[in-house]
Amino acid sequence: MTDLRTNFAGIELRNPVLLASGTCGYGEELAPFLDLSRLGGIVTKTITPEPRAGNAPPRIVETAAGMLNSIGLQNPGLQGFIVDKWPYLAALDTKIIVNIAAPTAALHAEMAARLDDVEGIAGIEVNISSPNMKDGGMLFGCSPTASNEVIAAVRAATRLPVIAKLTPNVTDIAAIARAVVDGGADGIAMINTLLGMAVDWRTRKPILGNITGGLSGPAIKPVALALLWKVHQAVDVPIMGLGGITSAEDALEFLVTGATAVQVGTATFIEPGGAADIVAGIESHCAAAGISRVGELVGTLGV
Ligand SMILES: Cc1cc2nc3c(=O)[nH]c(=O)nc-3n(C[C@H](O)[C@H](O)[C@H](O)COP(=O)(O)O)c2cc1C
Repeated sequence: MTDLRTNFAGIELRNPVLLASGTCGYGEELAPFLDLSRLGGIVTKTITPEPRAGNAPPRIVETAAGMLNSIGLQNPGLQGFIVDKWPYLAALDTKIIVNIAAPTAALHAEMAARLDDVEGIAGIEVNISSPNMKDGGMLFGCSPTASNEVIAAVRAATRLPVIAKLTPNVTDIAAIARAVVDGGADGIAMINTLLGMAVDWRTRKPILGNITGGLSGPAIKPVALALLWKVHQAVDVPIMGLGGITSAEDALEFLVTGATAVQVGTATFIEPGGAADIVAGIESHCAAAGISRVGELVGTLGV
């Protein structure tokens, strides 16, 4: 038996596997397929200060080894989340991290302060990386200064652990990582989707209603690993690694490269209960390799 328990920035996880934001809704949709208490945690769909209807359809396109989405942060807004979604999540026997985004640093801070009063939230993940938001998201996450300001505002507004979710769509991700850590981030989640586009040459039109979207799934795993490797060397806070993880072996690759925990996203669209299989697979691979604690693997990549 391998001890899978993982402390991520003060959050005690049963194991290092969480569901990624936007790919598991608010938990309820997946409950018929998966015992959610087998997971380390769930990261909610991004919540914004006010409800959002999201972008015009089509909003999803399948690609080679992945998918493009341009959902546009459809969500019920902070108040709707607290009233309609939180009671279900609060009753689950797993850690719930609430993912937030807003058009200004001050509005991020207001959301964080409000969530601070909600009993049972394990942490806040700040989405400064959505490519599908014209009034925030990646606009912040591409600038070290703006990233720092948003995270510092959130950090000052809550007692909860603050996790900054980074975009891969930058020249120097280590500079962004240092900026969020300077702003007080307790942890980093990476990566969000890569900016992408799908085209129908016959109609000579883009396929997505929003024209561009975010690429996810197995196609982006090598990009995620390379960026994780860079960020792991640049900062000392724990990192949640994600991007294309579909198997226990994928997850173990992220742990060895420097992730303390991992998130499973697009794989859930292929196999809704797959994250629990990843937990079981991590345990059996580690046990077979004689590893007594999964944490022993983190950042052990030799180069
Ligand atoms: C349909 C869809 C919706 C998503 N929505 C969000 C979101 O609301 N907030 C967020 O931070 N990331 C969102 N993401 C990004 C994922 O959380 C994750 O960062 C990305 O998909 C890479 O991981 P994966 O390859 O395992 O899916 C979304 C991804 C998909 C596919």
